[in-house]
Order: sequence, then structure tokens, then C-alpha cells
Amino acid sequence: MISRELVSLMDLKERNLLTLADFTPEEIRFLLDESKKLKKQFKAYERTKPLKGLTLAMIFQKRSTRTRVSTETAMYFLGGHAIFLSADDIQLGAGETIQDTARVLSRFNDGILARVYAHSDVEKLAEYASIPVINALSDKFHPLQILADLLTIEEHKGKLKGLKLAWVGDGNNVANSLLIGCSKMGIDMYVATPKGYEIPEDVVQMCEEFAEESGAKLVMTHDPVEAVKDADVVVTDTFVSMGEEAEAKKKLEAFKHYVVTEELVANAKPDYIFMHCLPYKHKEAEESVFESENSVVFDEAENRLHTTMAVLKNLMG
Ligand code: CP
Ligand code: NVA
Repeated sequence: MISRELVSLMDLKERNLLTLADFTPEEIRFLLDESKKLKKQFKAYERTKPLKGLTLAMIFQKRSTRTRVSTETAMYFLGGHAIFLSADDIQLGAGETIQDTARVLSRFNDGILARVYAHSDVEKLAEYASIPVINALSDKFHPLQILADLLTIEEHKGKLKGLKLAWVGDGNNVANSLLIGCSKMGIDMYVATPKGYEIPEDVVQMCEEFAEESGAKLVMTHDPVEAVKDADVVVTDTFVSMGEEAEAKKKLEAFKHYVVTEELVANAKPDYIFMHCLPYKHKEAEESVFESENSVVFDEAENRLHTTMAVLKNLMG
């Protein structure tokens, strides 16, 4: 076990963040502790400016509220500058290759943050860039979201290890990343999806290995009640992710028994927390659950800022 002192000296400079699978539990713990420190004093960084003189190129091939605004705000508070590049703004959207984009941005900037369709695109950016590349959501993973989720769980439950988290819904990018986060940090995760929408086998297998280290129990099921029974945390996400619009009708039909209803959450512990990365699309959970006292979705959204600041400060600073 790594000592607390070593953790406080951890050096993540120049690392990529494509998925939390590449980070040890100690490194994730370090980023969470950094986030807590930054949360207490984030406006103070306006004075010390740890990223003064540094710039971040932000490629967004899909829309975003939380990721874009938290990252731009984080760069401002850390004293650096963020450059927003939508698909319409840069030549990447008109056929320039990822390889060339990565090499050019590496000559101008100190970091690249990218929201893309195919996960292989962030991998290719990282392969060709000589500066850190941060995944701001791909079809497979959303690591920045999960750092915020872990911080939110710890703030509300006082711990991570030994909790039971239920995921009800799609086996999508957020679910994949949450399985990594839980399996690394010792949270038992029960995943209830319809048949055909499970978390991919390669992700489950990788997480089983992480879980052996942490002691987390991972259960893949099709039964939402089994997943939610006595859960400390209940999580869902949209049934139709960005890029899946053409499948919306089919998916909504397949997911009709996976809506987080009041009846379903009655199976969780009375003090359970409800989480959702947002945006809420009003199909995946009842309004009364989303708006309930148990819902911590806006704390979770706020924590995107503090955890992103910890990532930017330590990977780019
Ligand atoms: N949760 C999340 O990533 O939200 P945005 O799509 O608004 O960035
Ligand atoms: N699964 C969703 C998450 C949005 C933040 C999507 O990929 O659209």
C-alpha cells in the first residue's frame, strides 16, 4: 500500500487520460484528494495561476454543456487559456487527419482535450501528440465524469469502499467508465441492462481483474430489482446517447422496464443517493426520483469543475 506522503508527491505530469483503467487506485485517490483541496479554494488559484502561460486545445465533435463549461472555467481559474474547437471550426471536420491535427496542436498547445465519436480517435490523438490528451467522452469511456461521480459519492457517503452501487439502464460509455472506477476503488457495482445492451465483455473482464485487487463485487444482471436492492447509490444515464439518434425508437422500447421509478428505488436503502451525469432526457428516470431529496445530480455536476481542475493542474501543470 502506497503511503499518504508518497500520494501527496504523485507526479502525473504529461500523462494522458483516455480511460481511468490506465490509472492506479492510488492515482485516482490522489486526484480525488486534489479535487477536494481545489474545491475548498478554487477561486484562490486566480492568484497563484498554476497553469499560467499554458493553453489547452478543446476538440468537440459532439455538443456539451458540463464538460465544455467546466473545462473552460477550470482553465480560467488555473490561469491558463482554453481554445474551443468544434468540428465546424477546424480542418479535422473537413478531412484533415487526426495524426496531423495531433502533431500541429502539439506545436502550439500544452494539452488536448477531445470529445469524439470513436474511442480509437482519442487513442490516435494520444499516439501522435507530444502533449497530454484528455478524453472528454468517446463512444466507449467518459473518465472525467467518473472522477466527479466518485467525489460526489465520497462526499455524501463518507467512503467509497464497501458501498453498493446500482447502474440501471444502458451499458454505455458512462457505465463502462463507472465499472472501472468502482472496480478500482472497491465499490460493489450491480449493472442491470436489457439483453443486448450489456457492458462489453472486454470491459467486464478488465474490471474483474481490478476488482480482484480492490475486493469489489461486480454483478451483471438483467434484473433492475436485484441491482437496486439495498443499494447505497442508484445511477442511470440517457437511453439514447449522442450519435444513436437513429436508434432512439428501438432503444426506448427495449429499455421500457429499466426506467428508474419510485417503485424501483423503494428497494434501495432509505438514504440512497440518486445520480445521473446529465443531461436528463426525462425517459430514463421519473421526475419524482430526479427531483427527490435523494437526488444529488447537481452536486455531481458541480464536481465536474473541481475534478477537472485536479486533472488539468496535475497532467499539464
Ligand atoms: N455529463 C456530461 O458530460 O455533460 P455534457 O455532455 O453537457 O458535457
Ligand atoms: N451516454 C451519454 C453521456 C452524455 C454525457 C452520451 O454519450 O451521449
